[in-house]
Amino acid sequence: MSELERIGISLGKHLLAQFDELIAQRNYPNRSEAIRDLIRQSLSERGLAKPTTAAVGAVFLVYDHHAMKLSQRLVEIQHQYLVQTVASTHVHLDHHNCLEIIILKGKVKDINEIADRIITLKGVKLSRLNMMSIGARLS
Ligand code: NI
Repeated sequence: MSELERIGISLGKHLLAQFDELIAQRNYPNRSEAIRDLIRQSLSERGLAKPTTAAVGAVFLVYDHHAMKLSQRLVEIQHQYLVQTVASTHVHLDHHNCLEIIILKGKVKDINEIADRIITLKGVKLSRLNMMSIGARLS
């Protein structure tokens, strides 16, 4: 962590009470840690608006492994984006369904592009991209 500076914040009584409730629910050790997390989260989310920001993402997929050539297409896309594909893991959920999580690293625009190619494949039943920008200085 870089050199610490102290700041004072004025909050309304009700807003502070809700904030303290959130802190307790999430088990933060103190207000400072909760505020630091909120600031980091806000900076990271803001970074997502810029296509060239450094980011990491995880694409979650549930798909039918009987779908024609879907597994093969997933592997092809990961090979095509070798630099951005960090890892993937596969879980056999039941007789028909598989869960695959593909972890990507790169620019925001690259991760969106790769995720769109994966998510739109025929046979994908459920999908979600979770992405965080990591371009801001977070300490
Ligand atoms: Ni499977």
